[in-house]
Amino acid sequence: MILPLVHLPSRVLRMPTQPLKFPLNKSVIKLIHDMVDTVRKANGVGLAAPQIGQNLQLAIIDIEEAGIPPFAIINPKITESSSEIESMEEGCLSLPGVFGEVKRPKKITIEAFDIEGKLFNITDDGFLAKVLQHEIDHLNNKLIIDCFDNITKGQELLTKYQEK
Ligand code: NI
Repeated sequence: MILPLVHLPSRVLRMPTQPLKFPLNKSVIKLIHDMVDTVRKANGVGLAAPQIGQNLQLAIIDIEEAGIPPFAIINPKITESSSEIESMEEGCLSLPGVFGEVKRPKKITIEAFDIEGKLFNITDDGFLAKVLQHEIDHLNNKLIIDCFDNITKGQELLTKYQEK
């Protein structure tokens, strides 16, 4: 099922998120499947629960062109980040049409739980590292609009997304 996406200035994007408990209940498992359908339909590479109106520590990563099938990160934490910083153009499904450069650590390690409740780690220094940081930021109520280095597209849309 495709879920409606929440856009700025919706306050749910700024609400604290709650960790999930295992085993996951049926409604959360359905939510995860629906989030996968939703991120695919939107041609996104990631989707965090606040973006569909749920203040949960849950995000989907979907970088199929890199050969990575969609997977959930639950209660994720960044455990290491490099001092080396890299800038990349990013957009967000919560502020469609706006793109800008965002500086982030190049290499990170995260720790998260999978859908079965198993803890796993990912270390990456490429595109995946940026997507993971973007999604984990959502779970900490941080949006790219807060950390754009410069806006590359959609400057005129910004007032529409401005929070009161
Ligand atoms: Ni986003």
